[in-house]
Amino acid sequence: MPVITCIEDLRLLAQRRVPRMFYDYADSGSWTEATYRANQGDFERIKLRQRVAVNLEGRSLATTMIGQPVAMPVAIAPTGLTGMQHADGEILGALAAEKFGIPFTLSTMSICSIEDIAAYTQAPFWFQLYWMRDREFMQALIERARAARCSALVLTLDLQVLGQRHKDLKNGLTAPPRPTLANLVNLATKPRWCLGMLRTRRHGFGNLIGHAKGVSDMTSLGAWTKEQFDPKLDWSDVAWIKQQWGGKLILKGIMDAEDARLAADSGADALVVSNHGGRQLDGAPSSIAALPAIADAVGQDIEVWMDGGIRSGQDVLKAVALGARGTMIGRAFLYGLGAMGEAGVTKALELIANELDITMAFTGHTDIRTVDRGVLLPGTY
Ligand code: GLV
Repeated sequence: MPVITCIEDLRLLAQRRVPRMFYDYADSGSWTEATYRANQGDFERIKLRQRVAVNLEGRSLATTMIGQPVAMPVAIAPTGLTGMQHADGEILGALAAEKFGIPFTLSTMSICSIEDIAAYTQAPFWFQLYWMRDREFMQALIERARAARCSALVLTLDLQVLGQRHKDLKNGLTAPPRPTLANLVNLATKPRWCLGMLRTRRHGFGNLIGHAKGVSDMTSLGAWTKEQFDPKLDWSDVAWIKQQWGGKLILKGIMDAEDARLAADSGADALVVSNHGGRQLDGAPSSIAALPAIADAVGQDIEVWMDGGIRSGQDVLKAVALGARGTMIGRAFLYGLGAMGEAGVTKALELIANELDITMAFTGHTDIRTVDRGVLLPGTY
């Protein structure tokens, strides 16, 4: 077993262990993947100010996100098909997050269901919803999230149409995979994954199968979004969701200061600066590049978070410095999960927390809540 010292180690292990179709689904962006690459590249360009001879004892990463205490300003992002990266992946991710003291978000497109997560965890989790044509189905999902004691709803605003993801199209992505020759040959090289899948009954979209009506293909994300996602989404629909849910609401997929103002005016509790991990609009700026203007535009009117490109605690610190009260991690979580199941997710969280703590110390801070743009070298962000 190699010594795991960074998220990249987990990525390489996940690449070995997860069937190609699902590894590619998680790891790729849309079209030319320029935005996907910029998410990470732009973090690297931002430089930190090293400070010395500051008392660094008693450091703390603890803060709150929408009033909920978190061990560090990181939540697990909603990611589709997570139970295909590893058997029962959403349950394992939620367990790791609960033990670590950070929120877990379950995607509508999960393999394990809302009820599965509720049955296996104690801590309240968050549920992510898309705006769909079938209002009754959305209402039913909201009811199920309420019954499962979810403490926030994450409404995704940037996936009314699906970005063109070339690898998924080439791989013929479905969950579970179709037994084609190419898939069977690839699966034969992933014995751990296969064994895990043989031991679980969770192989399809757990929130949809047996619940959603009138969908012709329950195995493909592309078919589901095309048939069910409503392109007419507008801000009055956001108000409708807020009223139906009645609890904490997080709006995900904001990349523009004008939209951020509208999000703040909607009365939501937080917005996530997000280009969907570079999976939707290729050619959009990186999330970290979009963050400062959005944070400036809304001030204290709504909590600002960000996701996209976070692969280390350094990245979290840079996001916090530029105005994010919290961050979300998608791929860093999935690499850990695909590499080693729950232990891998825990490893990813430990790596990020440790790097965040050490980097914060080098910048002369002992409390994550005091970190601001002063930790960054002017001219590099
Ligand atoms: C779902 O949200 C996806 O990006 O595939």
